[in-house]
Amino acid sequence: MRISGWQVTLAALSGVYGQEAYSPPKYPSPWANGEGDWAIAYQKAVQFVSQLNLAEKVNLTTGTGWQLGQCVGETGSVPRLNFRGLCLQDGPLGIRFADYISAFPAGINVGATWDRKLSYLRGKAMGEESRDKGIDVLLGPSAGPLGRFPDGGRNWEGYSPDPVLSGILMAETIKGIQDEGIIATAKHYLLNEQEQFRQGSEDGFEVADAISANVDDKTLHELYLWPFADAVRAGVVSIMCSYNQINNSYGCGNSYLLNYVLKEELGFQGFVMSDWGAHHSGVGSAMAGLDMSMPGDITFDSGTSFWGTNLTVAVLNGTVPQWRVDDMAVRILSTFYKVGRDQVQIPVNFDSWTRDTEGPLHFVVNETWTKINDHVDVRRDHAKIARQVAAASAVLLKNVDGALPLTGKERFVGVFGEDAGSNPLGPNGCPDRGCDNGTLAMGWGSGTADFPYLITPEQAIGAEVVKNGGVFAAITSGGAIKESKDVARQADTCLVFGNADSGEGYISVDGNGGDRNNLTLWQNAEAIIDAVASECNNTIVVLHSVGPVVVEDWVEHPNITAVLWAGLPGQESGNALVDVLYGKVNPGGKTPFTWGKSRKDWGNEIVRTPNNGAGAPQDNFSDGIFIDYRHFDQADLTPRWEFGFGLSYTTFKFSDLTVEPINAPPYTPTQGHTKHAPTFGRTDGKPSDFVFPEDEIRRIPLFVYPYLNSTDLEESANDPDYGLPTEDYVPEGALDSSPQPLHPAGGAPGGNPRLYDPVARVSVTVTNTGNVAGDEVPQVYVSLGGPDDAPKVLRGFDRITLQPGESKRWTVELTRRDVSNWDVASQNWVVTEHPKRVFVGNSSRNLPLQAPLNLSIQ
Ligand SMILES: *[C@@H]1O[C@H](CO)[C@@H](O)[C@H](O)[C@H]1NC(C)=O
Ligand SMILES: *[C@@H]1O[C@H](CO)[C@@H](O)[C@H](O)[C@H]1NC(C)=O
Ligand SMILES: *[C@@H]1O[C@H](CO)[C@@H](O)[C@H](O)[C@H]1NC(C)=O
Ligand SMILES: *[C@@H]1O[C@H](CO)[C@@H](O)[C@H](O)[C@H]1NC(C)=O
Ligand SMILES: *[C@@H]1O[C@H](CO)[C@@H](O)[C@H](O)[C@H]1NC(C)=O
Ligand SMILES: *[C@@H]1O[C@H](CO)[C@@H](O)[C@H](O)[C@H]1NC(C)=O
Ligand SMILES: *[C@@H]1O[C@H](CO)[C@@H](O)[C@H](O)[C@H]1NC(C)=O
Ligand SMILES: *[C@@H]1O[C@H](CO)[C@@H](O)[C@H](O)[C@H]1NC(C)=O
Ligand SMILES: *[C@@H]1O[C@H](CO)[C@@H](O)[C@H](O)[C@H]1NC(C)=O
Ligand SMILES: *[C@@H]1O[C@H](CO)[C@@H](O)[C@H](O)[C@H]1NC(C)=O
Ligand SMILES: *[C@@H]1O[C@H](CO)[C@@H](O)[C@H](O)[C@H]1NC(C)=O
Repeated sequence: MRISGWQVTLAALSGVYGQEAYSPPKYPSPWANGEGDWAIAYQKAVQFVSQLNLAEKVNLTTGTGWQLGQCVGETGSVPRLNFRGLCLQDGPLGIRFADYISAFPAGINVGATWDRKLSYLRGKAMGEESRDKGIDVLLGPSAGPLGRFPDGGRNWEGYSPDPVLSGILMAETIKGIQDEGIIATAKHYLLNEQEQFRQGSEDGFEVADAISANVDDKTLHELYLWPFADAVRAGVVSIMCSYNQINNSYGCGNSYLLNYVLKEELGFQGFVMSDWGAHHSGVGSAMAGLDMSMPGDITFDSGTSFWGTNLTVAVLNGTVPQWRVDDMAVRILSTFYKVGRDQVQIPVNFDSWTRDTEGPLHFVVNETWTKINDHVDVRRDHAKIARQVAAASAVLLKNVDGALPLTGKERFVGVFGEDAGSNPLGPNGCPDRGCDNGTLAMGWGSGTADFPYLITPEQAIGAEVVKNGGVFAAITSGGAIKESKDVARQADTCLVFGNADSGEGYISVDGNGGDRNNLTLWQNAEAIIDAVASECNNTIVVLHSVGPVVVEDWVEHPNITAVLWAGLPGQESGNALVDVLYGKVNPGGKTPFTWGKSRKDWGNEIVRTPNNGAGAPQDNFSDGIFIDYRHFDQADLTPRWEFGFGLSYTTFKFSDLTVEPINAPPYTPTQGHTKHAPTFGRTDGKPSDFVFPEDEIRRIPLFVYPYLNSTDLEESANDPDYGLPTEDYVPEGALDSSPQPLHPAGGAPGGNPRLYDPVARVSVTVTNTGNVAGDEVPQVYVSLGGPDDAPKVLRGFDRITLQPGESKRWTVELTRRDVSNWDVASQNWVVTEHPKRVFVGNSSRNLPLQAPLNLSIQ
């Protein structure tokens, strides 16, 4: 038997797994109560759910199966009340599997902008496009993986390994999406830091279960959970649980993380959906806090489900209490009303599985041919936002003697490297961008979208040079060493392009199974850089990479005059690059991660081979909170470029730091009890009410329904384990519907509201001391002062524009949470006695101003 989820918890408790990390069981699953600003949405949801019968409720909780509808996930519907199934669609940078949409810069580029407004506007644009395609739920943004490993495959879908930068920008994206009436999804909850083993066996390694991320409570709160707290506080209505295990309990069956941390402590009022295939148990996951099974079937197109029929049966046989299913339904419906989907929903007018106009409504079984794609162009003027974000995210890492910006007077510009050109197979030639041909503008996997077009660097720079009357040659073959040298010898300006790619684990590219195998460049770019630099004394390197690359072999070459990181810039890649190269946009991006000098400098490693025999691989997060710059600072290692670093075409000065305490109400742990678990609607259903209505609906093969095949529950469930004594698999306390004690750190969405009281005001004057207008990002770091604390942690930032000579007074307020540590014993945040300091500057290692942080709070 496959041991999973809550079963592992029980097994671990009883000592089966010996010393392996385990997740403390936390039951019952908290019922939503409409707290915070959810009251109206909650009431409307309760009103709707009160009209439903059991099969209708179950329909809302369970997907109809992989490729059985038009969207990547679809729930069942309630035809009786004209409620169509919800359409769920990827992803974090635009709409996957659709035409006439925008392919925006990736999350990591938004991280590099350090710009709240751009994050919001990009989110809003994605929301508008989703709405016009008929999508209900957009499967983004992502802050998990956070970016513990520089070579982790999916880091680029999120913002930064810093939780504060990540959390603030993620919250803005969520607001943007939801302000357009779309349900946003914060994912992947939690600790999906590597692709290898995320779902169990792979690459020829046989293991019993998915990798277990074993993390202590302090690290959980101070690092990985932090951006999710911001997301919940910003009003995110849906959360996707992850493939991996946490302390040997699956992400979608982990009662500690779902019931206790997310729903009790963070007061999450929305619904939790499983990642596609991350659902591992029927009764167990329902008790552990999962609310929606995606895509609904146990394995893709098995025609069976842990929920659907099984959930109906589990309620009818008295194993899962009705209040739990009612809570799932209320949570799902609340989100619908919370974002206003009842006001703006239109029919789904695209199809994920074909770009043709006509096709089968149920793709995998090729049934019901009809017009399924209206090819609606939903882009508006979003190209402008895509270009703006791409330009604002460019990070100027090296610039000797004003090599950049280019003046337009260059006589001969050479462009080199495969990464400058197009993919010979077309911009969307490789499914889900599963190759690295030509220029890189997004990573691979489910977090991609089809490019409506892709402006390459070669195209855009070529057009600019020609317009300026120059001579232009581009050599975009990675093997053309001799030809590159020949042109480099003639050119006065040589732009060399290099990239490094990664993505999601179901695709492998050049032997990289999601995570990167190394931190060097792809496409033979290093050889091209060497060749060009040996011939051209003005060699400018442009990097498109999913994260840091090690540049030590070439970066100090005297002929390399500039290095620019452009990340994963999306459809407007070339245009945005020209904006920056020619100074139409002054670069103001800051690197959202640390660039180490060798892989070992990061001090941790991806688990690449099984380390627990045939059992689940174990990943002990023994680096704790010390990832990225926290680790480099702690270990006193000099990076190539530190977190927060980025040059400009102008210069800035920081002066006049003041730090004033702000009086705030004392911190009061939340006390009291919840109400009794409510139930809604009829509770007198019997098996005969839910037998498949063969005379009303035609059964679609493989489709997941909420119905029974007969009035015999066991026969309908068709599970060899059916009817085992419930004490074997219903955890203690899971059925308890009595009022429950409130979490001391809870009390509102995002946690105890007092955590967000401002407790100090930090102000500084920023002056543009150069000759051109530009953007600067003042950054505030705090040292919390304890022996287990990082030397400093980012706590505030903004991106501000200054004209030459202009000064601005910039102020940021630190909250109680910003100056607190997580206390495991009291399960709450505390302000320690350790002396604290504030540092201000424009990178994590250029902090010219500092002052003690004196507080006047209790
Ligand atoms: C995992 O185990 C550690 C160590 O026992 C514990 O501190 C932590 O709270 C557990 N976390 C989860 C999510 O179960
Ligand atoms: C459940 O959803 C399916 C698919 O949308 C629909 O055909 C069926 O009628 C729904 N069942 C109920 C009880 O509403
Ligand atoms: C019910 O769940 C079990 C696994 O727990 C599965 O084997 C069975 O096929 C499911 N039944 C249905 C009708 O999907
Ligand atoms: C009730 O139904 C569920 C879902 O099919 C099944 O897993 C469980 O074994 C059943 N319990 C009893 C006591 O029959
Ligand atoms: C799918 O159905 C269509 C229309 O009924 C038919 O023309 C086509 O051959 C079928 N395709 C496959 C792969 O069976
Ligand atoms: C495109 O990428 C694939 C996979 O990486 C590679 O095998 C192929 O040679 C490339 N094709 C072209 C035309 O560049
Ligand atoms: C690193 O990986 C890339 C992509 O697989 C490959 O092209 C490159 O040659 C590798 N670098 C080294 C030094 O092996
Ligand atoms: C730098 O470029 C010049 C050509 O401009 C070349 O002569 C010289 O050898 C190069 N320097 C190095 C260290 O390769
Ligand atoms: C590069 O070489 C050219 C030709 O020798 C010279 O005019 C120019 O000043 C050099 N540029 C730099 C940046 O050294
Ligand atoms: C993880 O930690 C546990 C408990 O401390 C230890 O027994 C185990 O050996 C560690 N596993 C690995 C792979 O380091
Ligand atoms: C229920 O009936 C359908 C139609 O006869 C059949 O395909 C399916 O396998 C049955 N399910 C179970 C769990 O027996």
